[in-house]
Amino acid sequence: MKKVHIIDHPLAQAILTSLRDKNTHQIEFRKGLVELGRIIGYEIVRSMDIQETYVETPLGVKAKGVKIPDLEHVVIIQILRAAMPMAEGLVKIFERARMGVISARRVEESHTKGSLSFEIESTYVRVPKIFPEDILIIADPMLATGSTIATILRNVSTKGTPKRKIIASVIATNYGIERVHKEDNSAEIYTVAVDPEINEDGYIVPGLGDAGDRAFGEP
Ligand code: URA
Repeated sequence: MKKVHIIDHPLAQAILTSLRDKNTHQIEFRKGLVELGRIIGYEIVRSMDIQETYVETPLGVKAKGVKIPDLEHVVIIQILRAAMPMAEGLVKIFERARMGVISARRVEESHTKGSLSFEIESTYVRVPKIFPEDILIIADPMLATGSTIATILRNVSTKGTPKRKIIASVIATNYGIERVHKEDNSAEIYTVAVDPEINEDGYIVPGLGDAGDRAFGEP
């Protein structure tokens, strides 16, 4: 399985462009994240196992088709709060997914300017039991330093080991991707872009700013 999957579909890229635009209003921003969640969901489905099946059409003949058993075994974890609109889009594709919610906050007070490592405070963790046949999708729009995802991967490993672990993000960085793979080499990353830089405050550059603030207004 490919470890990093960049979604270069023109529609995904056009939505990302609008999210990057500082003039994009909160409502449009949220709608864009929902839509990207849905597009990423379609891309993930491409990599699922499919089985051949036959149905009988109203004309009384058999038609060959497919079914996707993996759709019954999806767990989506959303990281509060920026991932909420993305998870809404993912659930449109994975309607039968079991859902988990985890809060994660960078502890800004403990951060030294320029450091690429953040202490992560995670006070709310509600994750269903994870089974070996599950496909776990962790939604987090911004994979910057990878500190949050590394913490979440550690957290959810106590709930069971899934068949696949997928990180669904909108913008990632090479640093964040490496950090995630250091934590868990099997994790697959689906993202719409990989940006070149992280600034001294831990923001992705050019990025799109603070995804939570942009989606829900200033804290
Ligand atoms: N989280 C955000 O919301 N934006 C970034 O650029 C990095 C982390």
